[in-house]
Amino acid sequence: MKFFIDTANLAQIEEAQALGILDGVTTNPSLMAKEGITGEENIRNHYKKICKTVHGDVSAEVIATDFEGMIEEGKTLAKIDPRIVVKVPMTKEGIKAISYFSKEGIKTNCTLVFSVGQALLAAKAGATYVSPFLGRLDDISTDGLGLIEEMRLVYDNYGFKTQILAASIRHTMHIVDCAKMGADVITAPLSALNGLFNHPLTDIGLEKFLADYKKGNV
Ligand code: G3P
Repeated sequence: MKFFIDTANLAQIEEAQALGILDGVTTNPSLMAKEGITGEENIRNHYKKICKTVHGDVSAEVIATDFEGMIEEGKTLAKIDPRIVVKVPMTKEGIKAISYFSKEGIKTNCTLVFSVGQALLAAKAGATYVSPFLGRLDDISTDGLGLIEEMRLVYDNYGFKTQILAASIRHTMHIVDCAKMGADVITAPLSALNGLFNHPLTDIGLEKFLADYKKGNV
């Protein structure tokens, strides 16, 4: 299972990379805006910095919504660094673009996926990754994890190579549940990744080990 961090914040990417368990980064226009990164050139430069920091795939989202625009933008993004994965929205134009990029050998991430039918289209188009947004489904009282489970079943039925990249992860248990459902990748905020470390028995146990060591070594 791959761990991606879902942020455009360089300090957080560095912190996760330093742990030695990071496999990539996902961004989107909202995450870029949150860091105050605006303008085509600044955005491209920021992707360059991210690619230098992380040793893995970096999703960069297109803004164009028409086929020709997505192709032009995607090719420009892909030229930034071999780590770049062109992130394309789940629309008819987007599926056409993913199919095109797939034939050109450009990696893609089909984003804004909320149903098995959409996931099937992304796999048929040859997407490298598909991003089901589980938190946003949970937000509207729909079973986000259930979608991951159904996608796993359908992809395994046909041996689709598209990797299920569980996105819109809000907390640590989402990560654990995605692992149970067989997601290939999770992308999560740093807080959710850090939550995996926590267990009170680990803290208590370590405290006791150190105290016992001190008793014998005063
Ligand atoms: O990767 C997609 C993700 O950033 C969306 O998360 O929390 O805005 O639903 P959220």
